[in-house]
Amino acid sequence: MTDAPRTAAQASRRVLLGISGGIAAYKACELARLLVKAGHQVQVAMSEAATRFVGPITLQALSGREVALDSWHPLRASGMDHIDLVREADAFVIAPASADLLARAAAGMADDLLATLLLARDAVPTLLAPAMNRAMWAHPAVQRNAAQLRGDGLRLAGPGSGEQACGEVGDGRMLEPEQLMWEIEALWQPRLLQGRRVLLTAGPTFEAWDEVRGLSNRSSGKMGWALARAAWEAGAEVVLVAGPTALAPAYGVRTLSVESALQMRDAVQAELAHAPFDLFIAAAAVADWRPEARPGKIKKQPDGLPPLPQLRLNPDILAEVAARADAPFCVGFAAEAEHLVAHAQAKRERKGVPLLVGNLGPQTFGREDSSCVLIDAQGVRELPRMGKLDLARRLVAEIAPRLPARA
Ligand code: CTP
Repeated sequence: MTDAPRTAAQASRRVLLGISGGIAAYKACELARLLVKAGHQVQVAMSEAATRFVGPITLQALSGREVALDSWHPLRASGMDHIDLVREADAFVIAPASADLLARAAAGMADDLLATLLLARDAVPTLLAPAMNRAMWAHPAVQRNAAQLRGDGLRLAGPGSGEQACGEVGDGRMLEPEQLMWEIEALWQPRLLQGRRVLLTAGPTFEAWDEVRGLSNRSSGKMGWALARAAWEAGAEVVLVAGPTALAPAYGVRTLSVESALQMRDAVQAELAHAPFDLFIAAAAVADWRPEARPGKIKKQPDGLPPLPQLRLNPDILAEVAARADAPFCVGFAAEAEHLVAHAQAKRERKGVPLLVGNLGPQTFGREDSSCVLIDAQGVRELPRMGKLDLARRLVAEIAPRLPARA
């Protein structure tokens, strides 16, 4: 997961960050830093137990604001911190959320500032990041409380699985701060793809020539990753078939790593055979040809060049999916070097897809931003240059209303 730079279109929001008592409170410091770095205004509120794990002065320094500690020493002149702090926020995040906090919240108690803020939050989007020992998380009482809180409309993020501070291994680790950033940003995105299944291809493919060398291209995978994230934020179940990239795994997305175009095609067809998808987005820069792969390493010839490999045409993954009787709504990309609109229009018809996103490859490959044209049966529309995540969210907003209603 990359910590992408902000773009002008990304809004600055007010986040109320609640910290309850647990070892994972130290990770809340990093979360506060990431939120500030992303341009958000952070107000921290800590439970008494949280202050045993990290000092409020640390959070004050990271957030640039005095930390709210209890209702009897309010920060706001109104004396109503338990209401004002949450009502002035665009999101309320409690990370870590301890077993004790979950229990008090599920019971609707108001015995400290954090619990009272949860009661007073009204319609403010709220996220809890549970963190505790694996046996505590698995306990029926905690599971009951978690289910109750979800039923009450709170979003629970995680917990993740792995090695715990106590030395045990299992479910209960708080999500990493970068993962929580994705969860928090998702709170502000409309759930346009709720209940939908989305399949994507992304990144380049690598076509082996021998066991050491091969053909590939300059695609970084960033646009495909951004689309996977935007679709996940919009509520979709996302499967990403990804060629080789340097990007960290996309959070919340099931990623199938492949290398060649043939592997990518097989993975896509296997997914489609397994269960239907509503949407297929082909963002991969698939190599058009593959060499006849040779075993071993072709050795340098003392007297000249090695024999050039025989090239074979790769299958067109997008055209194959679009031609299926049970084809999902298909969106293609066209990376062109010139005559963008003419080439992209021809490509849309040739591949038989309802929507094609065209851009100039050299102006988008590897960059953090991109511009594009949208081409459908009605004509051509230009979207201005913006960060790839913003562009991906715009594309999701364009695509969602075009999807046929589910049978
Ligand atoms: N595509 C695909 N399988 C291929 C080639 C392309 O699925 N073997 C998809 C890409 O993911 C993209 C669209 O088709 O969504 C267009 O890809 P592009 O490389 O721009 O077009 P090509 O069909 O390869 O045509 P050309 O290279 O001649 O521009």
